[in-house]
This record gives sequence, structure tokens and C-alpha cells, in this order.
Amino acid sequence: MSLVEEIAALKEKQNAIILAHYYVPEEVQKVADHIGDSFYLAKVAAGTNAQTIVFCGVHFMGEGAKILCPEKRVLLPVPSADCPMAHMASAEKIKELKEKISDLAVVCYINSTAALKSLADVCVTSSNAVKIVRSLPEKNILFIPDENLGSFVAAAVPEKKFYYSGGYCPVHAAVKVQDVIAAKKAHPDALLLTHPECKKEVCELSDYIGSTAGIISFAEKSDKKSFLVCTEPGVLSELYVRCPDKEFYPVTGICEDMKMITLERVLNALKTGEGEVPVEKWFEKARRPLERMLELG
Ligand code: 13P
Ligand code: SF4
Repeated sequence: MSLVEEIAALKEKQNAIILAHYYVPEEVQKVADHIGDSFYLAKVAAGTNAQTIVFCGVHFMGEGAKILCPEKRVLLPVPSADCPMAHMASAEKIKELKEKISDLAVVCYINSTAALKSLADVCVTSSNAVKIVRSLPEKNILFIPDENLGSFVAAAVPEKKFYYSGGYCPVHAAVKVQDVIAAKKAHPDALLLTHPECKKEVCELSDYIGSTAGIISFAEKSDKKSFLVCTEPGVLSELYVRCPDKEFYPVTGICEDMKMITLERVLNALKTGEGEVPVEKWFEKARRPLERMLELG
């Protein structure tokens, strides 16, 4: 039996589904039941009847699924695969600001630990942050942990006042304006599609700013043939499937932790049950902000 066949057989036997983020290797995306951005995958996890969820993504993704479905078994093929930004806010600072600022909502990007989520009023992803923040009754927003996404939301919701924790994605924030200008010069007909985790200066040069799913859908619907893709290049496999006659040029570096998730690791998780996400003490309090995101997003 091939790896793919073994995975399919174990999946069936265990009533399992495989969820994969666009950033994981193409071979893993191919065995997934659902591929998508963080919001889509959280919704699928919350709504599935499967008994086991194999979450092919970084730690906060599997953790989010377990928070939403504590009765299910959630397996992370590589539990050490992590998003550094998920840790970039301090509980003390959040508590301090909560006491100091009245009429404040703590809005937590889903790329965060359960401990941070447990201090939030609502979670958001890059695809629903503007919509959710706009709908909140509070005037003041503490947006954690991604300051770049937070600034993008702040520009779209100018009626609110924003506070930040100074976090950033090391992959997206590393894209330099000079590199984008050089890529635009090399491909003058290409539209620039950018993830809002990129810096403001890069976003300002863009023709479209949105989540990974938003970028894919924009390229699919566009009359243009050529695109500079300013998000992790894992999205290219889906872009080529959906738009085989178009050209895509990546501008962003690799998210190494997403690439640790291989077919062998997926099979190992199903075979051994290793990588099961344990329930942590933060989970109960972290559930409501995530559920609120599903309701409002
Ligand atoms: P999405 O919300 O597009 O899935 O982005 C998640 C992510 O980690 C981007 O770096
Ligand atoms: Fe985290 Fe950035 Fe990797 Fe996304 S690309 S998982 S935000 S490190």
C-alpha cells in the first residue's frame, strides 16, 4: 500500500477527517478532505461529525479545533510546528490595559495561544477581522497579537481607537518594500495580492489585500493573467489548480513550520495517535471568543 492509500484506509477506519491549511506541502493538501484558510478550517472543525480531526497546520490551529470540539480527538501531525506570532502578547499587559481603558474590547487574532484567547472578548481571522471589529459595540479595541493585521483593520474601521501588543508574523513582516518594487518592475502587468500580515508600506502598494482564501478567490475571478503573490507560497498549489492558465510569482518567504507537516507525519498520527491535543486549563475560557467569531464572521 502507498502512503496515500494507508492514510485513506486509517481515516475511514477511525472516522477521521484531514484538514489542511493552504501553507502545508502540496502532497499533504492532496490527501486532505478540506483545504482552506484559518476561518474556513475552524468552521469545518466545529461542524464535522467525524470523531477524529487530523489538523495539518501549526499548533494554534489544532488547539483551536480542540477548544471548539473538546469531545473529539484532535491530532497534530507535528505538535511542535508553531506560529511564533501566537505568543507575541503578554497577559499582564492585556490585564493592565483592560483596567486602564474603559469601553475596551480585546480582539484576538486566531493566530494566538489558548492562554491569550482566554483573555479576549472575541477572536478573528484575517478574512473576517474587519467585519467583526466593525460590529462590536466598544469604541476602543485592543488588537492582539498582530499589529500589521490590526493596522489594516484600523484603517478600515476609523471610528474606533486601536491599541496593539507589538506582535508580527516573521514571514510576512519580512517582505521589504524594495523587494515588492523590484518584483513589480520585473512583472509590470501583474497585480499585487497581499496578506494583511504584511507591513503597511507593502499593503499600500497592493491591488488586493485579503486572507489566503481571499487572495485565491480574487485571482480566480480576475480578468488579469498575472499576479505577484505576497503571502506564503504554499497557496500557489491551490492557485494553479483553480487558475491553470494564469501566472503567479511569489514574493514572500517560507513558513518553515508549516513545511514540517509531511505525509509520513500524517500517517504516523493516524497510526499511533501521537500528537493528540490535550485539554488545557485555558480552553474553557477560550471557547466563547472563538464561538463568537463563528457567530459574527
Ligand atoms: P489565513 O487567515 O489566510 O488562513 O492566514 C493564516 C496565516 O497564518 C497567515 O500567515
Ligand atoms: Fe504564523 Fe506567519 Fe507562519 Fe502564518 S505564516 S503560521 S502567521 S509564522
